[in-house]
Parts: sequence; structure tokens; C-alpha cells
Amino acid sequence: MPEIASHSLAVPASGIRRLFEIALGLDDVTFLAVGEPDVPVAPHIAAAAKAAWDADDTNYTHNAGTPALRRAFADRFAADYGVATDPERVWATIGGTQALHQSLGLVLDPGDEVLVPDPGYTTFSMSPRMLSAVPVPYALRDEAGFQPEVDRLDALVTPRTRAVIVNSPSNPLGTVLDDDAARGILAFARRHDLWVISDEVYGAFTWDRPHVSLTALDHAEGDGRVLGAFSLSKTYAMTGIRVGFLVAPAAWAPHLRSAQEAMISCVNAPAQRAAIAALTSDQSDVVAAREHYSGNFAAATEMLDARGIRYLAPGGAFYLWIDMRHATGGDVAGWAEGFLREHRVAVAPGSAFGASGEGWIRVCVAASRADLLHGISLLPAP
Ligand SMILES: Cc1ncc(COP(=O)(O)O)c(C=O)c1O
Repeated sequence: MPEIASHSLAVPASGIRRLFEIALGLDDVTFLAVGEPDVPVAPHIAAAAKAAWDADDTNYTHNAGTPALRRAFADRFAADYGVATDPERVWATIGGTQALHQSLGLVLDPGDEVLVPDPGYTTFSMSPRMLSAVPVPYALRDEAGFQPEVDRLDALVTPRTRAVIVNSPSNPLGTVLDDDAARGILAFARRHDLWVISDEVYGAFTWDRPHVSLTALDHAEGDGRVLGAFSLSKTYAMTGIRVGFLVAPAAWAPHLRSAQEAMISCVNAPAQRAAIAALTSDQSDVVAAREHYSGNFAAATEMLDARGIRYLAPGGAFYLWIDMRHATGGDVAGWAEGFLREHRVAVAPGSAFGASGEGWIRVCVAASRADLLHGISLLPAP
């Protein structure tokens, strides 16, 4: 048989998937390892998808999504960030995942480099490899509050660097960029003439300040080098419905039309109707989800404080980044597996998100309060 393409072999296995598979083979596991909202999808969203099926609204749409959906996203973007975007710049994608892959596909040639956060969401390293490109990790360090350090980014740029991925609010860290940090990233990208791929899929969930959208900042005062990846998965608990958005420069339209045609043709039509319902409704379910997550954070951090366990103060997303170095002996992945087998609690080992995550764990707080506190009560204190 012929070999499979070498770039496919270069895609690393996900360290969370391995833990998940072990957990599936055990009884009574408390799952705190996966980034899945625990709230149900709102009835009006499900009803819109059902109505589309009933009305036989099941045909291909425009490669970019229906005009109504592109308009609905543009209106929500303007309402959330106070900056208008042209619906023609909005491309409906299969989740944020495909928005990321599509944007990377349009900026990376084989062998090109993209700077990716470490620790960072696993797809940031997997997707470039699928394109025969090279993810270059930029370390987010404890000493720097796990924030990007622009002088260190400068040192990683080579003639092959084409883009930097930025993720705020961050998975797995729960950190957020403030206005100065966002401007610092934009200035860095301008200095080296790089694209910025801004993953904002957790933008609806920040705790003590509004989300600073790099995409909106670029619209307001930038030069159009930010590619925004958005998603309805987390905001509206729609992970399996698979709708996201890429906000791209207007000039990319012909290229994106071909890229969408080649990859997906379009997002499925009933899901697009569900997405319109999500974006145009009164957002009270998003507010309720935010309150649920922030209440969980408060309860979880109170318990961690009481137990003397160190963690990174959460700014957004729905993850807690917890320091387990006192217990893990330099192998947090092995430790997480042992913890799962012994206590039946699944947490994500930080090393699954890059070398800089060694010794840390990620706990998803989008869970029931009881499950969350049960899991945290079992973590070893220093
Ligand atoms: C940072 C980040 N970006 C993108 C995604 C992709 O999500 P989806 O494809 O469901 O929108 C996730 C999912 O966990 C994520 O954590």
C-alpha cells in the first residue's frame, strides 16, 4: 500500500483524548477535563433548527453562509464591541476549528512558521501541521502571569514566520489580554508584517472586565491584519451544532469562496438557522451561563484558597489553571492518569497544551457545582 502523507504523521496526538479514553473505560467518573458547557442549548435555538428541517430548508447555501446569518453575526459583533463589521467579511464555518484552519490555510505555505501560545489550545499546533507548516511555540510563563511577552516574541520571528495566534480569553489558562497587551501584539505584528489570528471563541465569558477583541480593535484602528475566529459553541452551548465564524479582510472573498467550496461547501442549513436564532435573541441565556460559570469559579477558588493550593486568578473562559507541581514529580500527564484511576476524577494535564504546562492542570468549571467541588476536594494540597 502507498504511505499516508508525511504531514499527517506529524500531527501530535492529543493528551486529553488519551485521558478521556481511559475515563470512558471506568465507572462513575467526574469529568472536569473537557471544554464542554454543562448547560443545555436554549429551546428557541433547537426550535429554529427543527423548523428548518420541517420546512425542508436543507439545501446548499452560499459558501459563506446565508446573508441572514452573516448579517446576524455582524449585528451581534457591533452590539458587543461597538464597531461595525461588513457582513461581506463574515464567513460561517464549522465551529471555530474550521475558522482557524481556513485562516491558517490562507496564510501558510508549506514550511512557513506560525507562532502559537504554549500552553495553548491543542489545535493551534495540530492545524498548521496538517498544512505542512510549522507551529513555533511561544512560552507563556508563570513569572509573567502567563501573558505574552512581546520581546520574547520578537526573538522567535524568522524569515519564515507568517502569523501569530493569540487566544483571549485563553484555553487552557483563563487569562485575558487587556487593552495595552492587545495593542502590544498588534504593534509586534505590524513591526514584523505578520498576520494575527485572534481566537475569540470564549469572548462572551470574562469576569471582571469586558473582553478586548483584537478583531474589533483592528477594525477600529488597525490595518486589517487580524483574522478573527469566533464560535457559537461555548457562548450558546452549541458545541455539536458546529457553527463558527471567520472575520477576514474583504479582499479575501474570492479565495475564501474557493477554499470553502473545496473544504465544506457550506455549513449545514438547519444549523445556520439555529445560529441566527442564537445571535438575534435577547441573550439572557448567555447571561445565565456567565453567572453559572462565575459562581462556580468563586466556589472553586474559595476551596483552593482554603486548601492552600495555588492557581492562576481566572479572567475569562471557563477553565481554572492549577499548580500541581508539588505532587506531579515532573510528569503531570502520568499523575493525571493515576489521579483518574484512584479517585475517578478526570482533569486535563497541563502538558497536553505544550511543554510550558508541565506541572499544572486545567479544570473545567462548566460543570455542576457539586462535581467541581468534589474534584477539587480530592486534589493534593502542598
Ligand atoms: C481556544 C479554542 N478555540 C477554538 C475551539 C474550537 O471550538 P469549536 O470548533 O467548537 O468552535 C476551542 C474548543 O475547545 C477552543 O478551546
